[in-house]
Amino acid sequence: MRTSSKLFRAGTKVLLSLIAVHTGVEASATCTDNGSAPTIAYNASTNYLGCYSDPSVTILTAAKLSTIIMTPQYCVNWCGQRGFEYGGVEFGTQCFCGSMPDFSAASKTNDSSCNSQCSTETSISCGGNYVMSLYQILDPRVNATNTGFVPACQTQPLCSHQVCDTSWSIAERVSSLVNSLTVEEKILNVVDASAGSERLGLPSYEWWNEATHGVGSAPGVQFTSKPAGFSYATSFPSPILTAASFDDALIRAIANVIGKEGRAFANNGFSGFDFWAPNINGFRDPRWGRGQETPGEDIFVVQSYIRNFVPGLQGDDPEDKQVIATCKHFAVYDLETGRYGNNYDPTQQDLAEYFLAPFKTCVRDTGVGSIMCSYNAVSGIPACANEYLLEEVLRKHWNFTADYNYVVSDCGAVTDIWQYHNFTDTEEGAASVALNAGVDLECGSSYLKLNESLAAKQISVQALDQALTRLYSALFTVGFFDGGKYSDLDFSDVSTPAAQALAYEAAVEGMTLLKNDKLLPLGPAHKFKTVAVVGPFANATTQMQGDYSGIPPFLVSPLEAFEGYHGWKVNYALGTAIHDQNTTGFDLALAAAEKSDLIIYLGGIDNSIEAETLDRTSLTWPQNQLDLITNLSKLSIPMTVVQFGGGQLDDSALLQNEGIQALVWAGYPSQSGGPALLDVLLGRRSLAGRLPVTQYPASYADEVSIFDINLRPDLNGSYPGRTYKWYTGNPVVPFGYGLHYTEFEFEWEEALECEYNIQQLIASYQTDISGTINDNTPFATVKARVKNVGHEASDYVSLLFLSSDDAGPIPRPNKSLVSYLRLHNIKSGSEEVSDLPLTLGSLARADENGSLVIFPGHYKIALDIFESLTFEFSLQGYPAVIDTLPVPDAQYNFTVPVHIEPASTEAHS
Ligand SMILES: *[C@@H]1O[C@H](CO)[C@@H](O)[C@H](O)[C@H]1NC(C)=O
Ligand SMILES: *[C@@H]1O[C@H](CO)[C@@H](O)[C@H](O)[C@H]1NC(C)=O
Ligand SMILES: *[C@@H]1O[C@H](CO)[C@@H](O)[C@H](O)[C@H]1NC(C)=O
Ligand SMILES: *[C@@H]1O[C@H](CO)[C@@H](O)[C@H](O)[C@H]1NC(C)=O
Ligand SMILES: *[C@@H]1O[C@H](CO)[C@@H](O)[C@H](O)[C@H]1NC(C)=O
Ligand SMILES: *[C@@H]1O[C@H](CO)[C@@H](O)[C@H](O)[C@H]1NC(C)=O
Ligand SMILES: *[C@@H]1O[C@H](CO)[C@@H](O)[C@H](O)[C@H]1NC(C)=O
Ligand SMILES: *[C@@H]1O[C@H](CO)[C@@H](O)[C@H](O)[C@H]1NC(C)=O
Repeated sequence: MRTSSKLFRAGTKVLLSLIAVHTGVEASATCTDNGSAPTIAYNASTNYLGCYSDPSVTILTAAKLSTIIMTPQYCVNWCGQRGFEYGGVEFGTQCFCGSMPDFSAASKTNDSSCNSQCSTETSISCGGNYVMSLYQILDPRVNATNTGFVPACQTQPLCSHQVCDTSWSIAERVSSLVNSLTVEEKILNVVDASAGSERLGLPSYEWWNEATHGVGSAPGVQFTSKPAGFSYATSFPSPILTAASFDDALIRAIANVIGKEGRAFANNGFSGFDFWAPNINGFRDPRWGRGQETPGEDIFVVQSYIRNFVPGLQGDDPEDKQVIATCKHFAVYDLETGRYGNNYDPTQQDLAEYFLAPFKTCVRDTGVGSIMCSYNAVSGIPACANEYLLEEVLRKHWNFTADYNYVVSDCGAVTDIWQYHNFTDTEEGAASVALNAGVDLECGSSYLKLNESLAAKQISVQALDQALTRLYSALFTVGFFDGGKYSDLDFSDVSTPAAQALAYEAAVEGMTLLKNDKLLPLGPAHKFKTVAVVGPFANATTQMQGDYSGIPPFLVSPLEAFEGYHGWKVNYALGTAIHDQNTTGFDLALAAAEKSDLIIYLGGIDNSIEAETLDRTSLTWPQNQLDLITNLSKLSIPMTVVQFGGGQLDDSALLQNEGIQALVWAGYPSQSGGPALLDVLLGRRSLAGRLPVTQYPASYADEVSIFDINLRPDLNGSYPGRTYKWYTGNPVVPFGYGLHYTEFEFEWEEALECEYNIQQLIASYQTDISGTINDNTPFATVKARVKNVGHEASDYVSLLFLSSDDAGPIPRPNKSLVSYLRLHNIKSGSEEVSDLPLTLGSLARADENGSLVIFPGHYKIALDIFESLTFEFSLQGYPAVIDTLPVPDAQYNFTVPVHIEPASTEAHS
């Protein structure tokens, strides 16, 4: 999503002629009078307070509604009905509510600045771009209760329409609904703030809901301001930290809770039924501000995450889902810098192996409901107008063809086709090429120009009907019309003790030990009586949530957790901010340290350094923090550093500094970050996370252009490549790294055979399993025995890598992660066996055409990054293709003039 106002353009013209062209076909079933669609039952009385500039959209934040039928009265009614004392309209279409405006973020301005026409009543103004028309509500409903969500077919008058007649098939019901809509109504229902149809009794619906690591804030999600009931949802660690657990079962459990909580919100009218998660773009460049939202740089890890997250979120039945998941952003989107207008020209090889592989898994293997197309262009054509990606690859090749499978645009991405990519000459042209390429739903408002597209014959009504058919079929899968097996989920299913325990568990399991000179674990004996707790994350609360967060039930800071530990007297000092020049706080920090017998420094980076729309330019620690850490380390007091943030910092100075005995990476651990950290530092829980990314030296940012899309290194040494698979330099800390409090010994329980013939392998599968093979086809299971020979019980993540020095063309990957498993709580002296399954995909890599090929040659499998165990085997025979990628056409045809974009070498302005 984006925060820019561009998507809600002032004065957007909307056709809302509700003239009935078709009337609903009468239903044969009885239409019981069982409640009606929630209506606004009162008109709020208000004082107009004026027009306020709102540069960061923070005047009112308690609840937000985005709808095409916005007027100030509609907004204050909506807010007042929910018990809020203030309401405000901004951007022409957005309504904000709150109990008290934050005037510190606003300044009163001339009424003429509030010049965005309300979309349905153009004579009235609805704020402006970053300017709010603000109202005090004199009679908010004190006992306001949410009117809830009632399945549309239980409301009048829709229930008597054929769409609600259960004697017809879903396809027939959807078709009857689409056929009953006027063209104007159709257009109003292919944007995220979809209008429904008052005439038919079809409710409006906001498609924009977020759930990357818990039900998150979004236009479709409302956290109530009241203390009980839908005022919060479980906030899990950011995906980058959860991924560091390398625990697939944990990821599935988390996604299941997020989906359950999301559906509980939706059932009660506090969110929609579809959520725009997971973010599955590979964390390819360490500077990417949104890498924190992803499971890291390795596509095999990303694919495993998807296989667990999507079914966890959606549930097992594609026809009766918990919620709809959306894999985003399709495709080749992994940078914020210039994101609205950049074009990338990746090779077919990198497309197949890196950029498209997560989406293939999502579509082909998980039954995901929807896919989001991205801001950037690929090979000169914006992703949301890209017939190759959306039609040939996604729909035809991967079979994204269930009635309910739809494509949604990233927010404003359709407008950007015209405005930033300059791909079309007009906004309606952008809408036309997106719809024709197969984007069924726009997040934004350019599709409201589709009436002009129709008039100019740039699109057909059939294309519009196709999109609507997919969207309503999708809403059927989540009970929007009839209800479903998840319709009883309620607030009692939100933030349960089990969900809270899971959020704590995820934080514990992800935390990763990068250095330990015998300082950790700190307990349980009270070795340290007085502990200095210093740094800009020491008292972190919302900072621990990272981006795409919602409102958690609680946030326990490290400081609060440490102060609650009775063994310690805590001396707290902020010391320094995340990044500034002010060293005034150093003295207090050093003083706190000097009277302590242990220093815990908690810092790193937060969303002021890495975020959506904000890439990093440097991989170093902020200088002020590094200076303070260095000063503290000279005190000769035992010291541990805890590094927060999603992207890695170059830790060279800390790793070399003997005054710092331990270093822990804690990502964004969210609501239970403090207790999780306390428990791993004390050793009540083991530290066993592994880095899901490479920690590059800071020089990498100078060496590699952020716009260089290639994964592979240059053979002449001018470009070092990306990710552990290809990087030719020396990482500061390698992908997969993570220390333990104990020691392990390893032994193969079952390795592989010494030799396989590729053609025999494939033939055996073709006869075994229904004739088709692909990268998912099982190959063999390697078993490793892991014995804890140290003194502490510990989890252990088994990582299995594959490499070859002679198979297939050069360059060859350094190695590839092909299997992993987290073993839990292996007691001192005991052992467990890791089953590590391999597939034919484990053995394959992409050729220049993007085909996955198994090449003959000598191979090695190795357990862990230290190669604790190895086994060599060979593949004989001929190269064999197990998966393909369609070849792009020489030319794509559009119904409007277009301008193919060259590859970006700098940020598109
Ligand atoms: C009325 O709606 C409720 C759920 O909202 C449902 O359980 C009940 O069966 C409905 N009654 C009729 C007569 O349709
Ligand atoms: C609210 O005001 C509108 C416009 O003045 C009017 O049509 C409507 O009946 C009023 N509703 C109530 C519940 O007073
Ligand atoms: C709100 O609820 C309380 C308790 O149920 C009741 O006494 C009061 O009259 C209600 N107020 C309004 C304005 O409905
Ligand atoms: C493609 O998807 C459709 C609809 O979901 C399904 O019926 C069909 O079996 C699938 N085809 C293949 C080859 O998987
Ligand atoms: C947009 O493209 C047209 C046609 O290629 C060109 O004339 C125009 O200068 C471009 N505008 C921008 C802002 O790049
Ligand atoms: C820690 O943060 C909390 C919540 O923001 C705040 O109330 C508290 O005063 C802070 N503690 C210190 C010692 O600054
Ligand atoms: C530096 O920080 C101190 C304490 O945090 C504050 O009082 C002071 O105003 C700051 N100085 C500047 C120049 O921002
Ligand atoms: C575009 O049009 C040309 C000329 O009619 C045709 O040869 C080509 O196949 C078309 N491309 C696509 C992708 O439809």
